[in-house]
Amino acid sequence: MHKNKEHPETNYNDFPHWIFGAEIANRFTDEAEKHIPDYWRVIELTTNILKDNLSKDSNIIDVGCASGNTLLYLYKQGFPNLFGIDSSQEMLKVAGKNLSQVEKNFPSRLFYSQTFVENMTFNAIICNWTLHFIQERQEYLKAIFDSLVSQGLFILTEKTIQSQIIENQYIVFKQNKGLSNEEIERKKKQLKGVLNPWSIRANLELLTQTGFSQIEIVNARLGFVTFLCIKP
Ligand SMILES: C[S@@+](CC[C@H](N)C(=O)[O-])C[C@H]1O[C@@H](n2cnc3c(N)ncnc32)[C@H](O)[C@@H]1O
Repeated sequence: MHKNKEHPETNYNDFPHWIFGAEIANRFTDEAEKHIPDYWRVIELTTNILKDNLSKDSNIIDVGCASGNTLLYLYKQGFPNLFGIDSSQEMLKVAGKNLSQVEKNFPSRLFYSQTFVENMTFNAIICNWTLHFIQERQEYLKAIFDSLVSQGLFILTEKTIQSQIIENQYIVFKQNKGLSNEEIERKKKQLKGVLNPWSIRANLELLTQTGFSQIEIVNARLGFVTFLCIKP
């Protein structure tokens, strides 16, 4: 039986599959920094792209907003019309707490849903490190596309299929962040069948089939790839 060093009461055998529950939600930023290459760099790039290409009154939604890090970053850059969506109540609770510190009404713009919002339009949609968790990704992407205005921006970051060479380098990345081999192996097992990476080519094909016209890779590290797409 494995016990977590920081939370000795936690027995990982109790939940073999990865879930975004309270335990992860309360330490999400640390988890993201240790497991996601270029976590802050991609958030900064996302913000800079939106800042340089959209007016400040633009409607922007962050899909899989987790603890609200990206929304907070965007808010501090002067975007007031921000929305978030997530399928985890625990994540949204943390996001609501973090974001209400800058604006007390923010939590009312955070939506709890497994599916994309209906009857709203956006100038930009962000979906960083989330679509790979969604089983019905074609349908989800279509809903995103339909909710964007013409010339609207879509920023997507996905873990893609890694070769053994890149997976080994990804393990080194995690070891350098202080994770033990046991922790790395446990998370890999927990994510099996929960996080489903596609190849870069399959992602590009899906984005093209969905209707996006201009598709560029704007960041890539160790198999984590950020796409910038424009709706014609
Ligand atoms: C790795 S986190 C995303 C990190 C976040 N985008 C950021 O910038 O910090 C993945 C998030 O996707 C959420 N998620 C998983 N399936 C979802 C779905 N069907 N709809 C919305 N969110 C989902 C999880 O609850 C979790 O908060």
